[in-house]
Amino acid sequence: MTKTSKKEKTKDQYRELLIGCGTRREKIIQLKDKTEWHNLTTLDIMESHNPDVVWDLNNLPLPFKDNYFDEIHAYEVLEHCGQQGDYKFFFNQFSDFWRILKPKGVICITVPAKASMWVWGDPGHTRVIAEETVAFLSQKIYDQVGDSPITDYREIYKADFEAIYVRTNYEIQQLHLVLEAIKKRKPNVRNTRKTKRS
Ligand SMILES: C[S@@+](CC[C@H](N)C(=O)[O-])C[C@H]1O[C@@H](n2cnc3c(N)ncnc32)[C@H](O)[C@@H]1O
Repeated sequence: MTKTSKKEKTKDQYRELLIGCGTRREKIIQLKDKTEWHNLTTLDIMESHNPDVVWDLNNLPLPFKDNYFDEIHAYEVLEHCGQQGDYKFFFNQFSDFWRILKPKGVICITVPAKASMWVWGDPGHTRVIAEETVAFLSQKIYDQVGDSPITDYREIYKADFEAIYVRTNYEIQQLHLVLEAIKKRKPNVRNTRKTKRS
């Protein structure tokens, strides 16, 4: 009997989820050494695409355990979910992605850029996710509350993502995002000082 090496074991436990997979299984956003899928689960609302899980992403929570995936990939699907202005769904959806991601797990997203002719051209698109929208997913931004007119969503949003890659590919008018799930944030220096003074 051969012993399983630590490296192989780690590879086995590495899990990835591709949502709104459609007919494609290509890994479009790749992290460093993670060019291939590891233990991939696919999900789509359409059974005809043969996903592992047939599920409507508007139906939350998603049917996965907490802290389960290392990577979630969502290519050209999040603009089909929720409704523009439905901030409760927006934050609920990202909170659920955060729930099923392991600490430091990532969600890799492509959506049509604001200037894309498809952003509202596709009749199935129900919202736009812009670079600016993504800023609201980090708890750090709420340090500005009181100093700027930023909307405070902390009553309904407790998850936390750090944007580690945000880039618009202007040739194809697509926004590419990689957001890391932060489950233990180091105390903020600014807040710490405030606490010490009070
Ligand atoms: C524009 S296609 C993109 C397909 C694939 N990701 C790609 O990049 O080629 C959008 C995909 O999302 C799926 N989809 C749309 N709304 C969905 C929902 N509410 N829940 C799950 N999948 C959904 C569609 O069935 C379709 O396969």
